[in-house]
Amino acid sequence: MSGKGMEDHPRRHGQQQQSAIRSKLKILLLVISANVLCVYLFSGTSLEYAPRIHLWDSQALLQELNLTRHKLYATQAQLADLHRRLSASSSLLETLLNELGKAHGDKTPSDELDGWQKELSGELKLAVGPYKLPLGSTPNLGTDKLYPTLGSPCRRFQVDLTEYMSYEVGKECPSDDIFAQRLMLKGCEPLPRRRCHPKSPSGYVEPTPFPASLWTIPPDTSIVWDAYSCKNYSCLVNRGKAKGSYDCKDCFDLNGREKVRWLHDNGNLDFGIDSVLGTKPPGTIRIGLDIGGGTATFAARMRERNITIVTSSMNFDGPFNSFIASRGLVPMHISIAHRLPFFDNTLDIVHSMHVLSNWIPDIMLEFALHDIYRLLRPGGLFWLDHFFCIGTQLNTTYVPMFNRIGFKKLRWNAGRKLDRGIQMDEWYLSALLEKPMT
Ligand SMILES: *[C@@H]1O[C@H](CO)[C@@H](O)[C@H](O)[C@H]1NC(C)=O
Ligand SMILES: *[C@@H]1O[C@H](CO)[C@@H](O)[C@H](O)[C@H]1NC(C)=O
Ligand SMILES: *[C@@H]1O[C@H](CO)[C@@H](O)[C@H](O)[C@H]1NC(C)=O
Ligand SMILES: *[C@@H]1O[C@H](CO)[C@@H](O)[C@H](O)[C@H]1NC(C)=O
Repeated sequence: MSGKGMEDHPRRHGQQQQSAIRSKLKILLLVISANVLCVYLFSGTSLEYAPRIHLWDSQALLQELNLTRHKLYATQAQLADLHRRLSASSSLLETLLNELGKAHGDKTPSDELDGWQKELSGELKLAVGPYKLPLGSTPNLGTDKLYPTLGSPCRRFQVDLTEYMSYEVGKECPSDDIFAQRLMLKGCEPLPRRRCHPKSPSGYVEPTPFPASLWTIPPDTSIVWDAYSCKNYSCLVNRGKAKGSYDCKDCFDLNGREKVRWLHDNGNLDFGIDSVLGTKPPGTIRIGLDIGGGTATFAARMRERNITIVTSSMNFDGPFNSFIASRGLVPMHISIAHRLPFFDNTLDIVHSMHVLSNWIPDIMLEFALHDIYRLLRPGGLFWLDHFFCIGTQLNTTYVPMFNRIGFKKLRWNAGRKLDRGIQMDEWYLSALLEKPMT
């Protein structure tokens, strides 16, 4: 092959590239001018109408108002359409610019940034790692780098995460536990670790000794109230008796309904703890988990039977985790989207009331149920307490789903939820399921 041919080839390639860029720039200009025209047209129509108002004639005034309202709706619809068109064309622009960048040999940003939208800096960069293991001390991990655990959806919320990671190292952390929890609920879980101290409650006193702690409401000075609408425990207790809907509304009132939960078996949706434990040889149910366990009354009852229950709970406008800890029980702050942090075939029992329900997207629920199956030991119990759904969903969606997981049914009670009347077709399912021995 001649030297000339070899020189020619890159030049021809360069020319092709330039003409490609030129044609893309033309498209770009077209897109921009189309949108400018579009903005002009729409702003013209929305300005042309100015209502005449007759204050002396209320009928006419009403009609004018009505007309104005209709014009307003029309304008809103036009604006929404405009907005949609603009975002469509801006994503087109973005694609074009990316293409142009590629023609110039730029790397796409996501390649360099490992899925982050912008370059990481400061504490966030430190927390995300990776950390290189010291030479020569490398344990048998199959890697020379460690990556801290961090939920991959965190990459979607980089602005929030950067705010979360802005603090003074070694000083007090910002009071942002609700902000942090919201990130967790959006899937940014686990969150990155931080190097600051959470705000301390002022006037903290030693906790109530066990076992009195199980049924004692702790002093208000035991926690920081910043994040909650209630600023003391009597407010939380009274909230349960008032109108309004809150998560686990009457759970802070330890002398109310909490006092009798799970003590009596009504042969229907309400199972009793002792009849559930009675399905197994005495003493063989020892450790377990209550998913979304509110203020951990289930764990308290089990503790009285020498059974250790970890209670997972989110702080939905209430200091659930702190309250559980005050009772001398173990709280765990994880959402139902999280892989449960227990090893396979380990727990004797898992309980969950009112949390696993039809608000959870089906596939997410199926993964959660499989996770429960995974961590139960053979013969372990899954007590699904008051699973809520609509009547038609029960037989079409959920019964087949439970059958797919592979549990054995020890007890199965479905019944209408009657507090809002029979026409709502709302159902509860309570079930005692067992992981097969083999
Ligand atoms: C407002 O306009 C709508 C439709 O243009 C009409 O159906 C309605 O009766 C009007 N209401 C009044 C109070 O004029
Ligand atoms: C508790 O807080 C509420 C407001 O949240 C307040 O009205 C009430 O006086 C407080 N009660 C006590 C005993 O501090
Ligand atoms: C719990 O364990 C303690 C100490 O082993 C024992 O004295 C007590 O009787 C047990 N309680 C129950 C309900 O089994
Ligand atoms: C579901 O199916 C069972 C058995 O086929 C039937 O008895 C029950 O009424 C059905 N439940 C609902 C809520 O449709």
